[in-house]
Amino acid sequence: MSRIDIIGLTQQFKGHRAVDDISLTFDDGDFGVLLGPSGCGKTTLLRMIAGLLEPTSGQILIDGQAVTSLPPKKRNLAMVFQSYALYPHLSVEKNLAFPLTVLRLSKEERQRRVLEVATTLGLENLLARKPRELSGGQRQRVAVGRALVRQPSAYLMDEPLSNLDAKLRTSTRQELSELHERLQATFLYVTHDQVEAMTMATKIVVLNAGRIEQIGTPAEVYDTPASVFVAGFIGTPPMNLIEGHLTCSGGYIHAETAGITSKLWPGEVAAHDIVIGVRPEHLRVARADDGAMRITGTIERLENLGSEQVVYLRVGDQLIIGKGAREVALTRGQQLSLGAHLDAIHLFDKATGRRMEWIPEPQDVLVGAH
Ligand SMILES: Nc1ncnc2c1ncn2[C@@H]1O[C@H](COP(=O)(O)OP(=O)(O)OP(=O)(O)O)[C@@H](O)[C@H]1O
Ligand SMILES: [Mg+2]
Repeated sequence: MSRIDIIGLTQQFKGHRAVDDISLTFDDGDFGVLLGPSGCGKTTLLRMIAGLLEPTSGQILIDGQAVTSLPPKKRNLAMVFQSYALYPHLSVEKNLAFPLTVLRLSKEERQRRVLEVATTLGLENLLARKPRELSGGQRQRVAVGRALVRQPSAYLMDEPLSNLDAKLRTSTRQELSELHERLQATFLYVTHDQVEAMTMATKIVVLNAGRIEQIGTPAEVYDTPASVFVAGFIGTPPMNLIEGHLTCSGGYIHAETAGITSKLWPGEVAAHDIVIGVRPEHLRVARADDGAMRITGTIERLENLGSEQVVYLRVGDQLIIGKGAREVALTRGQQLSLGAHLDAIHLFDKATGRRMEWIPEPQDVLVGAH
């Protein structure tokens, strides 16, 4: 079907770069997700790929062909918007058939395609209804169906689930994943919702202020965030990010910060300002004495999530978040030590915000006494 290459793409609005020199590739069959906070340039990037917005500079290739100056209809892409933009006065059947009117198809062929798509999406019994007679999820499926009938080479979707309630979002997410698997087509999906990105994407592109922070699989962006921004953006509750210093003593590298002791790897390193990152689920009571890092503080708040509990630990002027099993009995006001293993500790350069890569020695390192 389709491979999409984006080369040095920039969109400048009145002196402000909404998309700033972005280069990336979506391979044939990718479920690519553009993920980032409001205003980071997701929609702008998608609209340039669709041909709805002319780039200030840069190139877009579809299957190796430059399409940068082609109008949208010559790109053979289908776009699903956040507002479904269905025609209110037309039935579901006519809404689905609408994109086919520009193609020269026989009536039979048009009907065949509409029925096929309606069956794929479970809309076959709703063909006579008007959009106002449908639920939000059903309208959503009609909007997706309208993109499907044209059999485009790639599907572009801009926050298509944001008007649905939480339960419908979950089921529609599954439907979209299944649809992607069945069609084996290239999907390009915009969202600011990390759960959507983590559950559906084969490739996540994390954007911040018009630039790429990281490109990777869901596991890669979660397990090895490339920057403080990605570390803080992906994960709930978010990763603990603590400012500190990297120092060296007794032949070991330490990450030092108030209320936290750590002894990382044997080695030498120049003193360095860093941000230490640890995910809440990697900070465990059981590890307080055998981890590479120990954090001691007072329990300020406890949240019962049913299967797990979240503990908010006051450590000086910081609130550190831990998450773990509920069988550990904790009470508010109690002193508590939490620990993390070496492989759960992320280090970022404070000046650049970028991840610091280390090759630790393969040996078990224990914490010093607190
Ligand atoms: N036509 C325009 N003229 C001027 N500035 C614009 C225009 N369209 C978007 N912008 C600005 O460009 C930036 C990126 O906008 P964009 O719509 O791409 O963000 P987004 O990531 O899709 O955000 P959201 O999640 O809120 O939809 C924003 O600062 C926005 O205000
Ligand atoms: Mg947007």
